[in-house]
Amino acid sequence: MKILLLGKNGQLGWELQRCLAPLGEVRALDYPEIDLANRDSLRDSIRASKPEVIINATAYTAVDRAESESDLAYAINAAGPAAIAEESKSLGAALIHFSTDYVFDGTKGEPYVETDTPNPLSVYGKSKLTGEQAVQSIGGAYLILRTAWVYSTRRDSFISKVLQWARQNETLKIVDDQVSNPTWARMLAQATALSLARAGNNFYPWLAGRKGLYHLAGDGYVSRLDWARQILALDAHREEQVCKEILPALTSDFPTPAQRPLFSALDCDHFTATFGLRLPAWESALRMAMER
Ligand SMILES: NC(=O)c1ccc[n+]([C@@H]2O[C@H](COP(=O)([O-])OP(=O)(O)OC[C@H]3O[C@@H](n4cnc5c(N)ncnc54)[C@H](OP(=O)(O)O)[C@@H]3O)[C@@H](O)[C@H]2O)c1
Repeated sequence: MKILLLGKNGQLGWELQRCLAPLGEVRALDYPEIDLANRDSLRDSIRASKPEVIINATAYTAVDRAESESDLAYAINAAGPAAIAEESKSLGAALIHFSTDYVFDGTKGEPYVETDTPNPLSVYGKSKLTGEQAVQSIGGAYLILRTAWVYSTRRDSFISKVLQWARQNETLKIVDDQVSNPTWARMLAQATALSLARAGNNFYPWLAGRKGLYHLAGDGYVSRLDWARQILALDAHREEQVCKEILPALTSDFPTPAQRPLFSALDCDHFTATFGLRLPAWESALRMAMER
């Protein structure tokens, strides 16, 4: 299988490069070798690679900055993926693209399924939704995997922030009204690679028969506050923490440029029913991610 991975240095892309390696020849690129905002050079790179599968792990993920860099967010999250989908289709390559729980407004009150109507609250969420819609309308053998609260222990993420805050402050205030599924990038990458492996040599028709939108995130959901508590309990260097108490806060206590959905947990049963795979419970994935 000849795979072109875009976004190899991101949280997910880093893990994908390693998980995809046993499946065949992986060409892995990232900015500035490829620039999703420069569609001509993006198209040239894809054509030159002649891939059988394209995996797009790139994204403009700076949720707050996107509010003032809307054009760039749309270029990377919407127009870029549209160009990738067009090239995939014309090359007869399968495409795996990732999206976000932030396409929802967070008011449903229970985990979102794929047929729920999106209503993004932020430029980031809107740009990702426009990207999804472009991939869907272009067609071909595509999977769109919507995920949530992705973390890795390699790049800055909620994990590293919480560990740092607890080393600098005696009291932490963390929101308990934002709830979703923490997703370890490595588990997401493994499930992505395993679904491709399951497709075998005849992967194009196999994936074309299962094309569409899926939710794929850590099993179960939690508030940011309880997630932070669990991170601090699993800290291998707890003796370095100076934090004595963690207090619940409201999202409205910390005004940010972008509005975030409050309850954006994803129901992943459709992915499990189709591919026979499920990400582990968020607590056990977190334990594995933080084990030293
Ligand atoms: N992080 C989350 O909490 C979260 C939640 C839900 C869904 N998702 C989705 O999951 C996927 C993976 O996210 P992630 O957390 O792995 O993101 P990430 O760590 O921010 O990685 C994104 C990658 O895209 C690259 N990139 C940015 N601008 C680019 C451009 N113009 N051209 C080419 N590459 C560019 C980045 O390069 P640089 O490092 O050089 O900027 C980085 O390697 C994305 O589709 C994201 O929307 C993420």
